[in-house]
Amino acid sequence: MRKHIVAGNWKMNKNLQEGVALATELKEILAAEAPNCDVIIGTPFIHLATVSELLKDSCIAVSAENCANHDKGAYTGEVSAEMVKSTGAEYVILGHSERREYYAETPEMLKEKVDLALANGLKVIFCIGESLEQRENNEQEAVCKAELAGSVFHLSAEQWKNIVIAYEPIWAIGTGKTATAEQAEEIHAFIRSCVAEVYGQEVADETSILYGGSCKGSNAPELFGKPDIDGGLIGGASLKAADFKAIIDAWK
Ligand code: PGA
Repeated sequence: MRKHIVAGNWKMNKNLQEGVALATELKEILAAEAPNCDVIIGTPFIHLATVSELLKDSCIAVSAENCANHDKGAYTGEVSAEMVKSTGAEYVILGHSERREYYAETPEMLKEKVDLALANGLKVIFCIGESLEQRENNEQEAVCKAELAGSVFHLSAEQWKNIVIAYEPIWAIGTGKTATAEQAEEIHAFIRSCVAEVYGQEVADETSILYGGSCKGSNAPELFGKPDIDGGLIGGASLKAADFKAIIDAWK
């Protein structure tokens, strides 16, 4: 069966000391009460090495929130997939709507990032999702399918094993507006059917598809109760250990 996953995305929050404190608290909480799902925390680059070392013998995996679309060289300020991997991180979040929108990341650039991440042994949490305007025009399926086709459907079935999809409707991110569990399930099932078209039903059934967008302890049980929702990518509610734990507990 496919993995159930709760992944945090700290975004640009927490200085190094605060991040270490949060990771330490999470580690202790989950050591006392083992989670019933995979747990990942996505942190800014500067935390990766320290937090990876801290969580080495824990059940928590570490993810970057981005990597460069070049393998190395004169790209001042960029961080390569190889560098991310060398910190001990296992995952990288790519294609987040904030990066697409504020840093003009195109499907072609994301495709390069995905290829470099996989070539360097990272697993990818690949984000897709429509804007409010696209949802109002009923374009959510076309948008999600195009985002998959543009950046990840060129992968081989073997490479695909290292891909987790996160469906994040942009209108629900950080807004307090969650997609209803029914709305989310409908599109998750559609996304799984797109994966099946390219890789076959068996691979599609093994693909974890996470929901993201104002997911919290109060709505996670209903969302995760749907057959095609395999967990969550959590922004705001991943910044406090108790809030994040409440979402992890939705799998109990
Ligand atoms: P949110 O963010 O949980 O704060 O809505 C989710 C995300 O952007 O991954």
